Amino acid sequence: MQLTSTISALRERLDTERAAGRSVGLVPTMGYLHQGHMALAERAKRENDIVVLTIFVNPTQFGPNEDLATYPRDLPRDLDLCRAHGVDVVFAPDVAEIYPEPIRTHVEVEGLSDVLIGRHRPGHFRGVATVVTKLFNIAEPHRAYFGEKDFQQLAVIRRMARDLSVRTEIIGVATVREADGLAASSRNARLTPEDRAAAVVISRALDAAERAARSGEHDGAQLLAGARALIEAEPRARLQSLDLCDAQTLEPLERLSDRPAVLLVTAHFGQVLLIDQRVLPLP
Ligand code: PAJ
Repeated sequence: MQLTSTISALRERLDTERAAGRSVGLVPTMGYLHQGHMALAERAKRENDIVVLTIFVNPTQFGPNEDLATYPRDLPRDLDLCRAHGVDVVFAPDVAEIYPEPIRTHVEVEGLSDVLIGRHRPGHFRGVATVVTKLFNIAEPHRAYFGEKDFQQLAVIRRMARDLSVRTEIIGVATVREADGLAASSRNARLTPEDRAAAVVISRALDAAERAARSGEHDGAQLLAGARALIEAEPRARLQSLDLCDAQTLEPLERLSDRPAVLLVTAHFGQVLLIDQRVLPLP
């Protein structure tokens, strides 16, 4: 496995691979890897000749009061995991490599970036769309892999790719969960044991909403009220947002109908913000 921190070394390697007719799959991450990230790497491995996993804690997607400084990092452990999962190249640049000067060009996906999580994190999705565009231009992958857990992020990236005629195929991968149902996340490591135990309420609330939808509840307000009541009954949870949306446009939905719908939730446990999602069955 090759480890590189420079754009030029990465491009040199990937130019050679592409010239030999090999396909490249890209897995962008911020590191502190877990089973969710590795599911993306495994899928990339199945569908491409060469897998590049990037580790870059992108400062431009963090707000001034967010957890950039305390975001968990452990490169040696990440490299072991990558080796064990057949990753071919790890690209782990420092901030100066990606942003040698303050950036003046941004990728803004209107309408999808300023709603939902974007309402609470102004500039977040602009930072994500911009760095992902840079990573695409650096690696020129045939395919790139993103988790459905970060549902809005995936919607933003899909739309960015369509709008900007990006050649890379965007592939969404189902959420990987821990044994009790909590979505795997680098941030789970920062939960206290009590908050970790309590956090299961998020996936339980999504399960309950899915069950209600399957047994014929199609009214958005009712579905949301049921999930909200469960989360609010957990004293350690501070619900930030809970929305029922069109899975493609992320526009709010009043009822389940013939369009795929998704429930999106964000909640704080202590200082840690957890997010999760569930696509609901069509009526
Ligand atoms: P990060 O939070 O490290 O996540 C990297 C990728 O792993 C994202 O596509 C995310 O959706 C996916 N992922 C995380 N947890 C997952 C889980 N439990 N199951 C499946 N996939 C999961 O998302 C980012 O980094 C950054 O915003 C990035 C796209 C790298 C841009 O900086």
